[in-house]
Amino acid sequence: PADPVVVSGIQPSGRLHLGNYFGALRQHIDLHQQHDAYYFIVNYHAMTTVQDAERLREHTFNVALDYLALGFDPDEAALFVQSDVPEVTELMWIFFNLLPTSALEKGVAYKDKVEAGLTPNAGLFNYPVLQAADILAYGGSLVPVGADQKQNLEIARDLARRFNNRFCPEDEPLLPVPEPQILDDVAVVPGTDGRKMSKSYDNTIGIFDEGDALEEKVMNIVTDSTPLDAPKDPASCNVFALITLFADAETQQEIADKYRAGGYGYGHAKQALQELIEEHFAEARARRKDLEQRPDYVRDVLRQGAKEARAQAEPLLEKVRDRVGL
Ligand code: ADP
Ligand code: NA
Repeated sequence: PADPVVVSGIQPSGRLHLGNYFGALRQHIDLHQQHDAYYFIVNYHAMTTVQDAERLREHTFNVALDYLALGFDPDEAALFVQSDVPEVTELMWIFFNLLPTSALEKGVAYKDKVEAGLTPNAGLFNYPVLQAADILAYGGSLVPVGADQKQNLEIARDLARRFNNRFCPEDEPLLPVPEPQILDDVAVVPGTDGRKMSKSYDNTIGIFDEGDALEEKVMNIVTDSTPLDAPKDPASCNVFALITLFADAETQQEIADKYRAGGYGYGHAKQALQELIEEHFAEARARRKDLEQRPDYVRDVLRQGAKEARAQAEPLLEKVRDRVGL
């Protein structure tokens, strides 16, 4: 089979947290060297919630810093800002006309809002169509996301087929149907309150939190009230669940043994977790501080990434326009 084209977007809607790291960024960084990869900071998508120019700009820049600090190498793949490739929004408009609104009414994020009695904006309603345009504009065939994205990927596949059926001769489909590569085994990272870590729940630990701020969040992780002397069950502890993401097998075993033996309190476990986090991101943290001093370099990386992305999207859109009669 042909080498996959990896595509993935990340929303600049707040500070990235450990859930984003283990559920998305780490995979992105792992994949970007072996494959063609397009990683976009989806500022249009973020506008469904972030409607403040200063904040949107700041979040967008911070996501770029995060990727570069965590090891993204701009010589190996393209990192860019979604809105720097206008072909994508053009493709979205064309797609709007191929999809019945009923397909979007079933969207989980949209439905949840409606069911919660909130009024979703049209951006949220159409979110999956923009996502489909993002994927198809670069010929994406490997979309490393969590299982929660299955439905949106189905819409991208559906739109590719609908476009090909309507506008292309049967033996000459223009848009490859993306094969979803859902990472089912990606653990759901728990937040400090034990629910899924999410910025919507205000239970996150930032990838680059450090010092007192990190300590405060770690110390706030919810645990049960087993007394210090009593044996504890690591399998049912949020702190231990986070420890397993950072510690090697041997260290995990050691800490699990201490839990079961008693005399080891949750405060001890939290201290161990904080040290593991500090250590895991120490190098990235130093790189990020250095990059913060070089904003022009970061902007150059994004500009170059957008250039590479447009080199894919532009000729495709020329063909798309021709097929639909624009
Ligand atoms: P949030 O829930 O904080 O708004 P996003 O929906 O922007 O996060 O998620 C961006 C990426 O990070 C997605 O690929 C998603 O699957 C992943 N992700 C987010 N939270 C978690 C988590 N708690 N555990 C694992 N992956 C996560
Ligand atoms: Na690459």
